[in-house]
Amino acid sequence: MWGGRFSEGPSALLRALNDSFSFDRELFAEDVQGSIAWATELGHAGVLEADEVSLLVESLRLLTLREGDYEDVHSFVESALRETLGPLAGKLHTGRSRNDQVATDLKLWLKKACDDFDALVRPLARVLAQRAIVEAATAMPGYTHLKQAEPVTFGHWCLAYVEMLQRDLSRMNDAKNRGDECPLGSAALAGTPLKIDRERLAHSLGFARATANSLDAVSDRDFAAEYLFTASMLLSHLSRLAEDLIFYTSDEVAYMDLPDALATGSSRMPQKKNPDVLELTRGYAARSIGEVTGFLSLLKGLPLAYNKDMQLDKEPLFRTRALLGVLLPALTALAGALKLNRECMRGAAGSPLLLSTDAADELAATGIPFREAHEIVSRERGHSSDLNTVLAKKNVYGGTAPDRVREAAHKALESLTCHPERSEGSPESERPSHIGGGSFAVSAAQDDTR
Ligand code: ARG
Repeated sequence: MWGGRFSEGPSALLRALNDSFSFDRELFAEDVQGSIAWATELGHAGVLEADEVSLLVESLRLLTLREGDYEDVHSFVESALRETLGPLAGKLHTGRSRNDQVATDLKLWLKKACDDFDALVRPLARVLAQRAIVEAATAMPGYTHLKQAEPVTFGHWCLAYVEMLQRDLSRMNDAKNRGDECPLGSAALAGTPLKIDRERLAHSLGFARATANSLDAVSDRDFAAEYLFTASMLLSHLSRLAEDLIFYTSDEVAYMDLPDALATGSSRMPQKKNPDVLELTRGYAARSIGEVTGFLSLLKGLPLAYNKDMQLDKEPLFRTRALLGVLLPALTALAGALKLNRECMRGAAGSPLLLSTDAADELAATGIPFREAHEIVSRERGHSSDLNTVLAKKNVYGGTAPDRVREAAHKALESLTCHPERSEGSPESERPSHIGGGSFAVSAAQDDTR
């Protein structure tokens, strides 16, 4: 691909360090897609004859991924094409560089990863909203500083996480729209010398527009960074949810039980039922923060434009997408199957201590300054107001009154169900390609999902 000026081939020492095919093969489908679009555009530009374009496009469509000793996915595609087409394969790279090629591949891949994200997070949010409807009046203690504070409803707790997940969905959608620009035609760094209609090329690949500056286009990895950040924000939310549920399902608290199918036992202690899914959620949240930190560190010192450091941009993305593909279905199933001990939750929520704030509110309503009411109630240590009345009083917008919770849950469910972007898609596009996919914990490279 680039050996012309060299007097000897690359040493095994270089290859072991430099080659990226073991992991960037994940971009095979996108590399082929980008190459088909480029070949077609070379036809429009008069660089290739119509029959050359057809041959290239046809052969590209027939390519399948295989094992082998290739530098990267781009050189694999080119050499596989050479096997069927001979020298014509070499014409595909006219006016193009691996720099604009890999930036384009990555953005095509990221757009799909954003769709996966949506298709994985939305069901969890929906399950929580559905549970919020059913459990709108299920009382439980609310906590601050992990000390019992005031009664809330379990539905209200569910909706708190629905809010977080809705922000995550919105954030990823923003990232996708911002990243929806096609770098192809930027060539190595300065732009291609060919008469390419970059806007048409961008649209043919499903991008909203072409990138506006070639130096930026080949070295911009903001979309990837935003994907990783948004995923780590999501994972931070999921980690908090996990932590809440570990506490609520603990032997000491026992407000709820994990479904057997999503809990683990101990090989030594027969009585144990462990929350591994939740603990791994917390653990993977930690790792995802590491992925963003590492990614930004990789980028921050790079001079314009492309630098080989950028080859390392891919694995954190592959790992993150694969992780979400196994973590979210497990959490969604777990959230749907949690068994509530409603009596126990209600008993704890109705404890006189938790009703103290309401008692102080009541006194203050008679004209006693709240600070004095607070003092009086704290000396009395508790109160016996009716739990349902206390909950029903929090009837402000956003409050935990069961009527409010029910209303908010229905609203959330409705907005989670209508999804304009997805409604025109084919049924297959509903299913994220990475659900249940392989060995996410190691490297997506080992896992030939395409
Ligand atoms: N494998 C490379 C990467 O992922 C492709 C781009 C190579 N470009 C170059 N100028 N060496 O970054």
